[in-house]
Amino acid sequence: MRVLTGIQSSGDLHIGNYFGSIKQMVDAQKKEDTFTFIANYHAMTSVNDGARLAELTMQSATDFLALGINPEKNTFWVQSDVKEVLELYWFLSSYTPMGLLERAHSYKDKTAKGIKANHSLFSYPVLMAADILLYSPDIIPVGKDQIQHVEIARDIAIKFNNQYGDIFTIPNFRVEETVQTVPGTDGQKMSKSYKNTVNIFGEEKKQLKTIKKIVTEQVALEDPKEFEGCNVYNMAKLFLEGDELTDLQNRYKKGGEGHGHFKVYLAEVMWEYFREFREKREYYAANQLEVREILAMGADKARVTALPMIEKIREVTGISY
Ligand code: ADP
Ligand code: TRP
Repeated sequence: MRVLTGIQSSGDLHIGNYFGSIKQMVDAQKKEDTFTFIANYHAMTSVNDGARLAELTMQSATDFLALGINPEKNTFWVQSDVKEVLELYWFLSSYTPMGLLERAHSYKDKTAKGIKANHSLFSYPVLMAADILLYSPDIIPVGKDQIQHVEIARDIAIKFNNQYGDIFTIPNFRVEETVQTVPGTDGQKMSKSYKNTVNIFGEEKKQLKTIKKIVTEQVALEDPKEFEGCNVYNMAKLFLEGDELTDLQNRYKKGGEGHGHFKVYLAEVMWEYFREFREKREYYAANQLEVREILAMGADKARVTALPMIEKIREVTGISY
């Protein structure tokens, strides 16, 4: 079973990205044929400072390696290193009805929020379809917001196959039901765009400061507190299991401690959870050449799949003459 996912290099990684996406790829690489790439062309739809985008791409690569993406087991590369994806994007464009893109929620949401509509924002799902179809994966693990994009990729693949024969594998999405949406400091979905994130690799003091901002109910210190629905508890439970989780629930029920105490506890637990990853990150941050070599090797591996596919498409479409 081939599993593929892309993650945009558009900002610092937060714990929603970790539990919602990265951890799943790390778990999947043990048993499945995994393809993971950094979607830097897609990141251009939100980052328009060139130096910053280049920096974010290397930062994402460093972070993913630190968080457990294993380049021996996982085909791990940067989207723009396999440029055939852009050629496929054009091939697919002729099989993408305008209405399909006009109905895309993500485009409608972004333009409704005041983000300027341009062609790359509009055609974002076509490039995403190319990312997927170039590598013939069976499964795309996604957050709920990305389901429609995978459906668009399926629709385009079916149309293309109807015209030229069985070229593309029709991909399926997989939503991990056990991975709930990770809440942000304000209780909404954690997202860079809502500025409510707790980052994975922040400084310790800064992290505590962010965690202290988490919105909680006003309850007197001595009173018992509800843990269900509490934003601090909902974040803490991502890092705890068994007795540790029961102990925390008991502390809520008992009273005598305020949310401030639970926040300090959450900061400590989180710091401990990512300790090993932080150490690995320091290693890769000090060895950026090695990271570049890993990415080059990953792109070579990805090309082994991409090149025969694009060759076949050039032939059936008559572009090869
Ligand atoms: P952001 O919303 O911060 O811009 P992205 O859209 O770049 O995050 O998401 C990258 C990946 O992380 C996607 O697979 C997405 O489903 C996952 N993800 C992002 N935020 C959360 C969250 N709050 N809970 C669970 N998964 C999330
Ligand atoms: N659009 C995805 C997101 O914002 C990122 C992405 C780009 C992607 N290409 C992909 C995800 C291909 C899966 C498959 O999260």
